[in-house]
Order: sequence, then structure tokens, then C-alpha cells
Amino acid sequence: MTSNSKATAASDKIRKIEGGLRGSSGGAASTGFKGLDLGTSHLVLASVKDNREVYQKELHAFVSIPYSKMTKSMLEREKIQHRVQRPNIIAFGNRVDEFANILGGTTRRPMQTGLLNPDEPKNIELVELALRSLCGKAKPGEKICFSVPSPPEGNESMLLFHEESVRSVLEGLGYKVRTINESLAVVIAELQDYDFTGIGISFGGGMCNVCLSYLGLPVFTFATTRAGDYIDDSSAAVTGVSATTVRLRKENKDFDLFADDNPSSIDRAMSIYYREVIQTVALTLERVLNTTKDLPPFKGPVPIVFSGGTSLVGGFQKELRKAIRKTTLPVEISEIIPAESGLNATARGALVAAMLEG
Ligand SMILES: Nc1ncnc2c1ncn2[C@@H]1O[C@H](COP(=O)(O)OP(=O)(O)OP(=O)(O)O)[C@@H](O)[C@H]1O
Ligand SMILES: [Mg+2]
Repeated sequence: MTSNSKATAASDKIRKIEGGLRGSSGGAASTGFKGLDLGTSHLVLASVKDNREVYQKELHAFVSIPYSKMTKSMLEREKIQHRVQRPNIIAFGNRVDEFANILGGTTRRPMQTGLLNPDEPKNIELVELALRSLCGKAKPGEKICFSVPSPPEGNESMLLFHEESVRSVLEGLGYKVRTINESLAVVIAELQDYDFTGIGISFGGGMCNVCLSYLGLPVFTFATTRAGDYIDDSSAAVTGVSATTVRLRKENKDFDLFADDNPSSIDRAMSIYYREVIQTVALTLERVLNTTKDLPPFKGPVPIVFSGGTSLVGGFQKELRKAIRKTTLPVEISEIIPAESGLNATARGALVAAMLEG
């Protein structure tokens, strides 16, 4: 098989699965599979129930506070997920921020820049707690595919540790496990109308992940570590407020990168670091594309599709267009579009990948 016919066979396989998911050839064949977006800030689980795609999203954060009967009953009353690990009680999931505020605990994150957080001694235990609750035990033969980032340059060995540690947690729950690069998952979820050929970018909390795909096969992938958390931390450092204050302002729908009516110092700082995050991706893409030998025989211009929480801010698409326009790329870009499945794109691509054989 030539490399071109291999690629065509890959895109045909993905197309068939996509067809099944969309109900055109029977979604029933899609049960027994899960797709997991294992993100620095959020976990998203994709599965199929009653022939429909279902997505569950959890904040990937924890609070640990001293155990007391009162705290436990408060957590039960409020239906906040938790586990008693005497002498502590660990609360996790979507309402952790709120809980940390009420009880004065500090929010902890098991991951940082896309990988297990080396500064969190209980990182893998915390990931296990979250995955046990979100994914549950596997049914016999059930398969799961989870997303992994591209390693930041020079940190390839950290990716191996991260991947193997998470794999063993999921195998411990009984799943047959495979992995997919986060940005390839975005291409698979979003670029069916373009034969899975184009550039997928996920702008996340810890990382921006980028993939150039040709007929569903990755030509290259890379990641940059300036993303949402970097915007929060840098803006906090120069304005003297907390990173949480910045994050809440950033996630407020009023914030726009192009607002020109007297921005506050926090808004000004966020816009500066946002532009840096976007430019870093555009310039790295330019460098990697221009140094990749033997680019595939693209038939014409290719699209860029973008996803991830960091891309939700007002003016993002305009700023990304501006940054890409300033680069000189050996491949023509046809359009720059947001992911239709929004924050579910990575999990959706992982679900499709879980259904691929072999
Ligand atoms: N409406 C919003 N506007 C702006 N930023 C947002 C919004 N919602 C979420 N974010 C930011 O998006 C980031 C999280 O994005 P996402 O959930 O895609 O990341 P992740 O997949 O968990 O992380 P990574 O892919 O880097 O491992 C955070 O920095 C968060 O503050
Ligand atoms: Mg992500």
C-alpha cells in the first residue's frame, strides 16, 4: 500500500464511523466506546446512549480540607462529589471553586501544561478519583480513548510517564485503552467535510495543541505552553490581583480583545497576553511548516479549525486571522473556523478514535 492509499483508507474508515455516529448507518454499533478529553482544566467524556452522542464535563480540580462530620454532611447536602481520606476530605469536580470559597481551602490541580502536575504529590491519585467517578468501571470489552498533548519541546519523557500512568488507571477500571493526540482529535471531530485534511488547534488552559493532518493522518503535531493559565498568571502578576480574579473576568462574556472604550488594567493586561498566546502559536506554526520536509500533495488551500476554552473570548477569531495573515506559510489557508462541537471537539474525536480498529 502506498502512503497515499494508506491515508485514503484511514479517512474512509473515519468517515464510516462518523456516519454511524450521525445516525446514518446505525448508532447502535457505537456503544461500548468512550472518548475522554483529559485536559488541564476540564475533563470531558463522550459516549453514545440511545443512538445519541452524550457529553459530560467536569472541572479538573480538587480541594482537600480536614475531615469533620459537619463538612461531610454539607458536601452530601450540596451533592458535591467527595471522598473521605482521613484525616482529610477531598472534594472534586464542577463545584470545587465554590466549595473552596465557602470553606477556605485552596483549589488544587492534578495537571499542569497538559501533563501530570509534578508539583502535586497526589497527582495520579487525584486523576484516578476523578476518572473513577466520571468514566466508571468498564463493561466487558469496553474501549476508551483518551487525549494526550504533544510534549513541549525537550519534555518528551514527561509525556511517556503521563500517558502510561493514566493508561494504567483506565486499565485498572477494566477498559481497553488507546490514546490520540488532542489536536488530531479536533481534526477528526471537525473536518469531515474537508476529508480530515487541514490544521486543528486546541487553545486550552495549560497548552495550545496544533496538528496538520492529511486525510486523517498527522503530518506533524506540536504544542506551546502559553495558554489560558499563562494569561491568568501573567495578568495577575502585573496587576496585583489573584489569578482567579483574572480568570473570572476573562470568562465573563463582556470581555473582548477589541474593546476600545477605556479598558481596565486587568483587561489591558489580558489582551496583551492573549495576543502573545495567539502569536506564539502562529509563529511556531510558521516555523514548523517551513521546516517540514516532504509536505503531502495538498490539492488546494486547507482550513484551520480551532477549539478550546481559551478561544471563547470575544474577538478571538479576528485576532487569530490577523496573526496567521502575518505569517508566510508554504500551504495556503482557505479559512479559519471555530469548532462546531465547541468544547466537546477533543472528546468527540477521541470517541471516533476509540472506534477505530487495531
Ligand atoms: N468563556 C470563556 N472565555 C474565555 N476563556 C474561557 C472561557 N471558558 C473557559 N475559558 C478558559 O479556557 C481554559 C480552559 O480551556 P479547556 O477546557 O479547553 O482546557 P483543557 O482542555 O482543560 O486544557 P489543556 O488542553 O491545555 O490541557 C481556561 O484557561 C479557562 O479560563
Ligand atoms: Mg484541552
